[in-house]
Amino acid sequence: MKLFRMMFFSLLFVLIALPAFSAGRLTYYCSTDIPWCELMKKEFEKRTGIRVAMTRASSGETLTKIRAEKSNPKGDVWWGGTGDPHLQAAEEGLSQPYNSPKLKELHDWAITPHKATGGKTVGIYLGALGYGYNKELLAKKGMPVPKCWNDLLHSAYKDEIMMAYPSTSGTAYTTLASMVQLFGEDGGFNYMKGLHRNISQYTKSGSAGIKASARGEITIGVVFVHGAVKQAVKGFPIEAVAPCEGTGYEIGSASIIKGARNLDSAKKFIDFALTADVQSMAAQVKSYQVPSNKNAVSPPEAPDVSSIKLIDYNHALYGSKAERTRLLKKWDAEVKVLPR
Ligand code: G6P
Repeated sequence: MKLFRMMFFSLLFVLIALPAFSAGRLTYYCSTDIPWCELMKKEFEKRTGIRVAMTRASSGETLTKIRAEKSNPKGDVWWGGTGDPHLQAAEEGLSQPYNSPKLKELHDWAITPHKATGGKTVGIYLGALGYGYNKELLAKKGMPVPKCWNDLLHSAYKDEIMMAYPSTSGTAYTTLASMVQLFGEDGGFNYMKGLHRNISQYTKSGSAGIKASARGEITIGVVFVHGAVKQAVKGFPIEAVAPCEGTGYEIGSASIIKGARNLDSAKKFIDFALTADVQSMAAQVKSYQVPSNKNAVSPPEAPDVSSIKLIDYNHALYGSKAERTRLLKKWDAEVKVLPR
């Protein structure tokens, strides 16, 4: 009888515990730098006991992946990467609304995408676009010191600049959209054509250029200013530049994927990601974006975005499906095909 009772209670325990255990999972798509993606995974697992499977891919790539999986969604939450593809995902019905209790702790710029999409995406950080250069290489090759976007068109930098593909990388799409907003449609595309002549290689991921520059493989990488500062803080001879004409910026975002199998875990992840002390942890991996929670702390090494001339970047327009698709197609047809 005693044995029977023990077996009964063991079975009961398994039956109760099993569903709870299988609900404790999360498939997480991440579009920032890998160390920060991994830190978020580990910390979330530690705080909640939920097991996380992570995939890192660039912002545009992740949008393509979520779209391809639309009829059979595999991901639950998409965290990080530039906001424009998150806005496009919302418009395409690839993400779903969530009103985190943490919303009230956020800066207005982080709430704007949430309001614009009926709650489908929210800002987690802000970063100003710019570039970085390797000071030692620049001096060794006797190149002029660049300070502006237009400086990068100088023939002295031929084959000395790396950037990513605007279709895969949110950083590179922000560059294209920023040039169109700074210099007008024709001026912006002429700029991209001029820059193309000096590009040694296009990469998939936005931060690859500045990493190559830190290693001394290339002189200049077009990246977010905080990405260049990160390499300088790591001890590489990198100088970050906030271009003199003014520059665009990203609202790094997070979204819950429509049809998420682990919806409760996804909501918990969003709450976690909007928490002040979690956002402050970014400094541990030298990620120096401006956090969206007003109570999060930025370290002194982080670039002071208030001193950077930011344009009034039209996220609603450049994050729309029609405009993003149009610009990417035009870049492919008119810039990518040109000889270098
Ligand atoms: C880096 C930056 C982030 C940005 C991301 C976009 O990780 O630090 O601020 O959101 O790049 O990545 P992608 O590869 O899409 O350009």
